[in-house]
Amino acid sequence: MTESKGSITVGGKTVDLPIKKGAVGPDVIDIRSLYSSTGMFTYDPGFTSTASCESKITYIDGDAGILLYRGYPIQQIAEHGDFLETCYLLLYGELPTGNQKADFDYRITRHTMIHEQMARFFQAFRRDAHPMAVMVAAVGALSAFYHDSTNIADPTQRLVASTRMIAKIPTLAAMAYKYSIGQPFIYPKNDLDYTSNFLRMCFAVPCEDYKVNPVLSRALDRIFILHADHEQNASTSTVRLSGSSGANPFACIAAGIASLWGPAHGGANEAVLKMLEEIGTPERIPHFIARAKDKDDPFRLMGFGHRVYKNYDPRAKIMQMTTREVLNELGVKDRLLDVALELERIALHDEYFIEKKLYPNIDFYSGITLKAMNFPTTMFTVLFAVARTVGWIAQWKEMIEDPGSKIGRPRQLYTGEPQREYVPMSKRV
Ligand code: CMC
Repeated sequence: MTESKGSITVGGKTVDLPIKKGAVGPDVIDIRSLYSSTGMFTYDPGFTSTASCESKITYIDGDAGILLYRGYPIQQIAEHGDFLETCYLLLYGELPTGNQKADFDYRITRHTMIHEQMARFFQAFRRDAHPMAVMVAAVGALSAFYHDSTNIADPTQRLVASTRMIAKIPTLAAMAYKYSIGQPFIYPKNDLDYTSNFLRMCFAVPCEDYKVNPVLSRALDRIFILHADHEQNASTSTVRLSGSSGANPFACIAAGIASLWGPAHGGANEAVLKMLEEIGTPERIPHFIARAKDKDDPFRLMGFGHRVYKNYDPRAKIMQMTTREVLNELGVKDRLLDVALELERIALHDEYFIEKKLYPNIDFYSGITLKAMNFPTTMFTVLFAVARTVGWIAQWKEMIEDPGSKIGRPRQLYTGEPQREYVPMSKRV
């Protein structure tokens, strides 16, 4: 990283500040000395202009619609790679050789089972619990089961925790699903690849053979690749912030899952499907477009817009293609796809959406695909969590291994009461 100097003048004081140049993307002003030299903080709720860390993992150019994992374009990885190769790349920084990949697959596969006592832990939930609620609790509970991988100062234990998280998250996700529909848990099967194994754990029953459909498995694997990391989004920042205190890694991932659940983040694909169902037919689209544009109506077009992408989300294009592949394979004619395509067409030509640079994001199409695969809407965000776990773990590991990292502790602009005297209850009016 190269550095130059710039200066800013605030309150009549001029302060020299280093300007850091990343590998690509905008330069950043290093304001760490600002408070000591001016007595002022910066104010940036939502971090729209603030880099919270240095990272080598993922790069997004939101204006150009580019997403790179460790420098490789998402389109190339989605076309040629598989999800575990993507996990290796995100964790280790390079694409694996044949031997490295075989060893990694073996290590992940050998960690897919979970402690048998955890199965009983599931019985404590109501059957109608949202599977994301179950996931937050179950992943947090891993910290109570795997004490031998929680010393974050030990690189071997960090690696074991990372392997365990990537390996066990599909098993937990499938269990959350099976529990919600009252079916027995299906144990992992180690001769299947990661995604086929997940599909089997979700859809097999003990009384019948289950054959994984390779087209669906490849499609879901690609969906996992597309969701694997997305630099410093809300859930990843949550994982980093929780981890910055030295907290247990499994608990940090549980915090990330909690953040992902929100409809402005990972919950959007569930919200898109609900919205498409509410719209119902292409003729009703103009009414919803008008609502989305109305300042007094809180309604937003779900699956549109992104904090970083001000161009077509590159993942959305691949997702749209995957949706068609899945619907063709299953022979499904989904009226919601017709609504989605027409909605996209209208919005892309509407002045409001053009001016605000609101394009379809990845969640716009993923819900239709997952629905066709037979996943209920409540599982959509869970699948996102399965895929994003590697991103969270890679970012957590990078933070722990960064000698310059500090506990995250934002400042605030206090607008409450200044100091005042306590009033005894008898004197309060
Ligand atoms: N429909 C209608 N108007 C919108 C939309 C939308 N989906 N998104 C943003 N706008 C408008 C918004 O009202 C605002 O208008 P104005 O400047 O007149 O006040 C302007 O566009 C900027 O919006 P913002 O809320 O300031 O932008 P943000 O960067 O804070 O929000 C977002 C980004 C993704 C939360 C938002 O676009 C949104 O709520 N989209 C719908 C939810 C969604 O699809 N989320 C999935 C994100 S992708 C998955 C992931 O990476 O987690």
